[in-house]
Amino acid sequence: MMKVPLLDLTAQYQTIKEEIIEALEGVLEEQHFILGPKVADLEEKIAAYAGSTYGIGVSSGSDALLVCLMAEEIGPGDEVITTPYSFFATAGVISRLGAKPVFVDIESDTYNIDPDLIEERITPKTRAIIPVHLYGQCADMDRILEIARQKDLTVIEDAAQAIGAEYASKISMPSKIHRAGSMGKYGCFSFFPTKNLGGFGDGGMVVTDDPERAEKLKILRVHGSKPKYYHTFVGGNFRLDAIQAAVLSVKLPYLDAWTAKRQDNAARYDRMLQSTGLVDKGLIRPPKPIWKDAVSEENPVSNPGRQSPATHYHIYHQYVIATPRRDELKAYLSDKGIGTEVYYPVPLHFQECFKDLGYKQGACPVSEEAARTSLALPVYPELALDQQEYVVNSIVECF
Ligand SMILES: Cc1ncc(COP(=O)(O)O)c(C=O)c1O
Repeated sequence: MMKVPLLDLTAQYQTIKEEIIEALEGVLEEQHFILGPKVADLEEKIAAYAGSTYGIGVSSGSDALLVCLMAEEIGPGDEVITTPYSFFATAGVISRLGAKPVFVDIESDTYNIDPDLIEERITPKTRAIIPVHLYGQCADMDRILEIARQKDLTVIEDAAQAIGAEYASKISMPSKIHRAGSMGKYGCFSFFPTKNLGGFGDGGMVVTDDPERAEKLKILRVHGSKPKYYHTFVGGNFRLDAIQAAVLSVKLPYLDAWTAKRQDNAARYDRMLQSTGLVDKGLIRPPKPIWKDAVSEENPVSNPGRQSPATHYHIYHQYVIATPRRDELKAYLSDKGIGTEVYYPVPLHFQECFKDLGYKQGACPVSEEAARTSLALPVYPELALDQQEYVVNSIVECF
């Protein structure tokens, strides 16, 4: 039986093994493991790639979000608006600081926060909005930024799944292509190993154009100290290590080619699924790359770090279909040796730890529906054509 994992990191590793080993040997020879020149070098490269000015390497994507909230001094009595359809960290960091996450439902076609529903949830306590660019496609940043500007709120982009994803702004910015993370006051990336740009352990980065905040973030990640042993703020140990920076620096130049392969795989799924007739019958809904036409080559690009002429309207961190028979399909594909995943089975407003926030069934109906119907299929760059055909044929067999 053919095996198709959800993600195959060993296949990627084989293609860059020698460069990686050489880079790791460099770190071992230097014996400089925490922060230092390799991290500083990566910070510059990621900031340029994202179209931002400053990069601050941190210990994870979760800590990237946390440290931005800390830099804004968000805490007890404050509210932060975000999506209930994301990885837990997006909301967990708000609660950890004693602030209250306020969940605003998503759009059904993009799975991203619905800008139409944000304003009604803003109160005098609201301090920030954390939109998530879920699965690798940007949230509707023009509208989110406009609301934030009118209400004087800080926007922290959770771009953990969306490094390199592009958004063509039409309204509140000049009509330009912007990269995920460069539009809000802060952008947060995760280098968790399964991310499109993944390290060999945990890692993350904040990007920002604000020099004062960049400096504050650097201080916060070393327990709030500057100079050493003199603490201006209470920070934490949020440092990125040199091994991660070395690995990520090797991988970054390949990222655009990997993204292009993910997009090819996604386009092929779109065609194949359409031809099965299951889409027309309403049994499968493929993802909707809504910025596809907007992000065109004719638009000027805001960031000089953009390395390839290809457009990154959606970087397909995940290729997520919706189907009313999700659990049955997942089980069937699993029996066929095909890895899939449900992102996410329980929306955040229903998590046990947020029980006290008092959300009832139907509070965020689109997220609740997505939790019942969404299924991620393998879309990683090294996925072979015969594997993809096997996935689609198995889906047809199931139905
Ligand atoms: C949307 C989102 N936000 C935040 C995170 C947290 O990143 P990390 O796992 O690096 O802490 C993740 C990663 O899993 C994520 O997918």
